[in-house]
Amino acid sequence: MLSIIQLLGVATACVSIACGNPVRQLEKRLSFDYNGGKVRGVNLGGWFVLEPWITPSLFEPYASSGAVVDEYTLSQTLGPAAAQSVLEAHWNTWITEADFTEIASFGLNHVRIPIGYWALNPLPGDPYVQGQLPILDRAIGWARSAGVKVMLDLHGAPGSQNGYDNSGRKGAIQWQTGDTVSNTIAAIKTLADRYAADADVVTAIELLNEPAGYSSSLNLDTIKQFYWDGYGNVRAGEGDTAVVIHDAFEDVQSYWNGFMNTGSGAYNVILDTHIYQIFSDAEVGRKPCAHVQTACGYSSTLAGTDKWTVVGEWTGAQTDCAKWLNGLGTGARYDATFPGSTYHGDCQTKYQGTVDGLLEVDKVNLAYYVEAQLDAYESHSGWIFWAWKTESAPEWHFQNLTRAGLIPQPLTSRRFGSQCSTTTCLVPGN
Ligand SMILES: *[C@@H]1O[C@H](CO)[C@@H](O)[C@H](O)[C@H]1NC(C)=O
Repeated sequence: MLSIIQLLGVATACVSIACGNPVRQLEKRLSFDYNGGKVRGVNLGGWFVLEPWITPSLFEPYASSGAVVDEYTLSQTLGPAAAQSVLEAHWNTWITEADFTEIASFGLNHVRIPIGYWALNPLPGDPYVQGQLPILDRAIGWARSAGVKVMLDLHGAPGSQNGYDNSGRKGAIQWQTGDTVSNTIAAIKTLADRYAADADVVTAIELLNEPAGYSSSLNLDTIKQFYWDGYGNVRAGEGDTAVVIHDAFEDVQSYWNGFMNTGSGAYNVILDTHIYQIFSDAEVGRKPCAHVQTACGYSSTLAGTDKWTVVGEWTGAQTDCAKWLNGLGTGARYDATFPGSTYHGDCQTKYQGTVDGLLEVDKVNLAYYVEAQLDAYESHSGWIFWAWKTESAPEWHFQNLTRAGLIPQPLTSRRFGSQCSTTTCLVPGN
């Protein structure tokens, strides 16, 4: 059986190569041109997968208990009835049709929508509640009306693929134990089948967000096999829809070139890489110019991959100051409230507040940094900012940053010149 599948894979590749330019040829069946177009998107983070730092108000009542740190423990503590009503109220209000209208008006052409396996294939014993899918259905209708494409993103897998709160459950990485991988495949199949008729809007499905490839708990070969199996399920359900694979924090060129490229028999595959410069002491210690130069350095890295490559998460933040960004109750490296970190400066209004309330110097630094990143991340297939909105983390709020003029409009205009074409630092005062 295996050899037949392999033969089919080879046959597909040969047919594609005979067609001349396989990517261009097959891409015609997608309703977004990932060859000629640039993905410009925002993540609808904190909607169907809660993150305490995006919506602290939902977690505040339990913050001092120590027992509630993620959607899993929040649901557990609330119990099924209360969890259902709290979460449904959130799902119905956090993102509305007006958001899709504004997203489109800003020139954005994609949204990435994180969803947990528990919305698709809940497992016995889970405290999670359901009801996300009818709202997601409605959102796809809003996207269609607004002319925005949707990348559906499986953000949480059974057992947690990274141990972050954004997987639904903070703590141990237990994905790849027991039936967790086959249950993840089942969730992908549910997702792909449900939206098989919406390929005019759902142009891409991401198999799994941020599996912790660096962790000894995970086997990278098992991740690769999961990607092939997930690819097969999406192809079976949705035809040519792009399949998005996260880089698992491995190098986009040296590790991933050669894998699931057109030569290996796969087509319409997007590699997703996330670029943050804030999750280590050294990175939060970088000056604004170093942040810009580092961002610019990604330009050639991204351009040198052998498949479509999207920076599926990035931010305006140059620090990890946002309240609970590192987990509910955990401090920041930047101001040394994170265990074992070194003080670099005060978090001030970057901890909690509004875009308008940011200090002038922070606004300027952010605006330069965002423009440099837009330049660098369009060197290949484009980018998706994290996030569209937050309750009180100003550097992460694409909507308000744009309204405030700190993200350019149109998205292709530049106020600060071509920062990636010079080695001179253009950020004022640096
Ligand atoms: C975003 O803008 C809205 C509307 O002005 C405001 O209520 C909210 O506090 C702002 N949030 C941030 C983080 O800037």
